[in-house]
Amino acid sequence: MSGTFNNSDGDNPIGIFDSGIGGLTVASAICKKLPGERLVYFGDTAHLPYGDKSPDSIKYYSIRISQLLLQKKCKMIVIACNTASALAYETVKDFVGKQALVVNVIDPVVEEVLRQKRLHRIGVIGTKGTVKSDIYARKLKAGNSKLHVESLATPLLVGMIEEGFFNNKISRTIIADYLSRSRLKKIDSLILACTHFPLIKPEIEEYYNGKVEVIDSAKVVAESVSELLNKKKLISSQKKTVHQFFVSDFTRSFERSTKFFFRKKIQLQELGIWK
Ligand code: DGL
Repeated sequence: MSGTFNNSDGDNPIGIFDSGIGGLTVASAICKKLPGERLVYFGDTAHLPYGDKSPDSIKYYSIRISQLLLQKKCKMIVIACNTASALAYETVKDFVGKQALVVNVIDPVVEEVLRQKRLHRIGVIGTKGTVKSDIYARKLKAGNSKLHVESLATPLLVGMIEEGFFNNKISRTIIADYLSRSRLKKIDSLILACTHFPLIKPEIEEYYNGKVEVIDSAKVVAESVSELLNKKKLISSQKKTVHQFFVSDFTRSFERSTKFFFRKKIQLQELGIWK
């Protein structure tokens, strides 16, 4: 045992949750960075999308899912969803207390943008919940009051991605419609403030053709998870790991996406935590 947390055995798993497949972008980046870590993933597909739910509902879902991840002995909970990170991070942290570490997907991205001194006019796209919270603008400006931040809710993108509509004519049309809005006209960088969006990052980069830096959370969050686990001496010593994937409502598309990300046979189980 090391650290001061209840679940603080390095060989305990990392719990990760999102409303659906978006958090898999973060999970697979963590898996690449830390191949010895065992992951327990929960996709709350019964409540997808989170983006248009009330803050109270998001807090309620996040607490129940965190409770489940704690029961699975997770040493760390990664809120791999911007909407839940924006609306429920403090609530989850209070609830989890000293039982495990809690990481959100917003702070590592904000820190990364603040480090890159050449970025001044930052665009943010995300769900209605994330954009309404104004959390990116608040945090970025707290770090550098000279930054100009413009946020735009792009609610169609999550459903489009969950349904596998990317890299085609429809996705390119919807993406171009959102990105051409006047609010995003003069940006030098765009934060993909939704963990689903790395899946359409190539299309977004293609739209900007190198003129705008496109920043997503997957890699930076994996870096920060690694730093924190190292700092707390909670890195796993296991050689072989078997991840577990749970959903609150089974869908074939989720199973396909999970296989796509992890490129091996995966165990996907439905867990009726809301029934
Ligand atoms: N992937 C999530 C996010 O980062 C949730 C999207 C949704 O369910 O609306 O916000």
